[in-house]
This record gives sequence, C-alpha cells and structure tokens, in this order.
Amino acid sequence: MTSTDQPRRVRLHHLQQAKEDRRPLTMLTAYDALIAPILEAAGVDMLLVGDSLGNVTLGFDSTLKVTVDDMERAVGAVARSTSRPLIVADLPFGSYETGPQAAFQTAARLMRAGAHAVKLEGGTERVPAIEMLVAGGIPVMGHIGYTPQSEHALGGPRLQGRGSEGERLWADALALQDAGAFGIVLEMVPAQLAKEITKALKVPTIGIGAGPRCDGQVLVWSDMAGMTEWTPSFVRRFGELGAQLQRAAAEYVGAVRQGSFPGPDNYRVE
Ligand code: KIV
Repeated sequence: MTSTDQPRRVRLHHLQQAKEDRRPLTMLTAYDALIAPILEAAGVDMLLVGDSLGNVTLGFDSTLKVTVDDMERAVGAVARSTSRPLIVADLPFGSYETGPQAAFQTAARLMRAGAHAVKLEGGTERVPAIEMLVAGGIPVMGHIGYTPQSEHALGGPRLQGRGSEGERLWADALALQDAGAFGIVLEMVPAQLAKEITKALKVPTIGIGAGPRCDGQVLVWSDMAGMTEWTPSFVRRFGELGAQLQRAAAEYVGAVRQGSFPGPDNYRVE
C-alpha cells in the first residue's frame, strides 16, 4: 500500500485486496515501543512480533528459548505504541504444538495483549489448531519452508522445498489455506516454487528468502536496518544503523571524557 491510500488500521480485507490488486505487502518485525512507531511512520502494512525477538533482543542463540511471557510483553509494547499496522504475533515454541486447546490458550493471551492475528509454524499437522483458532475469531498466518522452531530437525537454516520436497510444501500451503489461514509466510523456498504457490493461492504469501514473486516481503527489522555486522544473504541492508549508533555512542563517550558534555546548553546553573 502507498502512503496515499493507507487505511486507519490495516485489516485482513486490505491484505486480500492488495493481493488482488497486485500491490506488494510490507511486513517488518518489531519488539518494542521504541522501534515500532518508527516502522509504522515508514508506512509498513504489518508488524510481526516475531519469536526472533529471542535472538534480536534477548541474546538467545535460537527462537526455542522464547516464552509466552516474553511474547506477551513485546506484543503489548508494540500494540501500545502503534495504531495503523496489523500486528501479528508468533506463537512461541512449545506453546501450541500439542494441539488446538494449547494453541487457543496461547493465542488468546497474545490477542489480549494487543495482537490482531497470530502466526504459527508448520504445515498439514497444524490444520486442527488453525481451524479452532479461526472458529474462535483469531486470524492465523501460516509459516512454512524453513521454520526456525524446527531448526534441529531441519539441519539448520537451509533452503526448503527443493526437488520432491516441493510436493510437501504445496500440500502444506493448500492445507493451511483450506484451514482458514489468511496468509502464509514462505521462508527460504526456491523463488520459482514460491512464485507458483503464490499464483495458485487465494490468500497472500509473504516471502523471506523466497524471491520477488510473493505477494509481500518480511524482514527482521534489525537486519533490514543494518544493526549487526552479519546478515543472511537474502537480506538487503537498507541502512547501517549499527555503525551509526556506535559512532554516536563513541562521540558521547569522548565528549564526557573531554568535559565538552554537558555543555552550557545542557544545564542551568541555578
Ligand atoms: O520471528 C520472525 O522474525 C519470523 C520471520 C523470520 C518470518 O518468523
């Protein structure tokens, strides 16, 4: 969506309309009230309170250690600080895989915290959970391809859906759509396969490492902004915020040590 035709709140029908009009959708992760309003002001359609918050903000080496409490706190911060983007919250590892009841309980907590939809990883095996959430009024986004919560089963971050694996991905995408998912993240999937799935599905696909022909794109905000030294190859760094921040902090440290901060403008004598 462009800044001229932005709705007051992005809703599911806006996403569906964007697919029909072939307007690319934009999604970035957000985890707090400092960054979320900046991304909103940039015009992003959806904010994903992803479980990548474990790696990005909590210093974990994977998403597996993220809890529902962690997610709930982050969703609340993003919801309190924004008013337009659709907020999608990840169901964290261990909080939904045992079945529909567990999924509903976790999703209800995140919806109460301010999410407008939840995202869960997995294919056909998630159909019962998705059906229950959708029946309970909770919009669900699917996530297939490379699913970080299954990193050990999948042998680490690698392209999924090559060769005969592609058939399973097709089956998963169709099953999620039929179960009522309003959109599907395709992560680290060959671009040709992502393009064909996107064309076949009625609901929007959101790609990450899945080429340009998905209905939209998602990135982890700190990767997009160049906050860290390393970024995955499917990321484009749209800024170098990490280096800028370091320069600003180094100037501050130098100014304090030299006695030039605080300066006359920064304090009152009486
Ligand atoms: O948690 C996350 O950031 C995600 C995206 C990578 C899609 O799930």
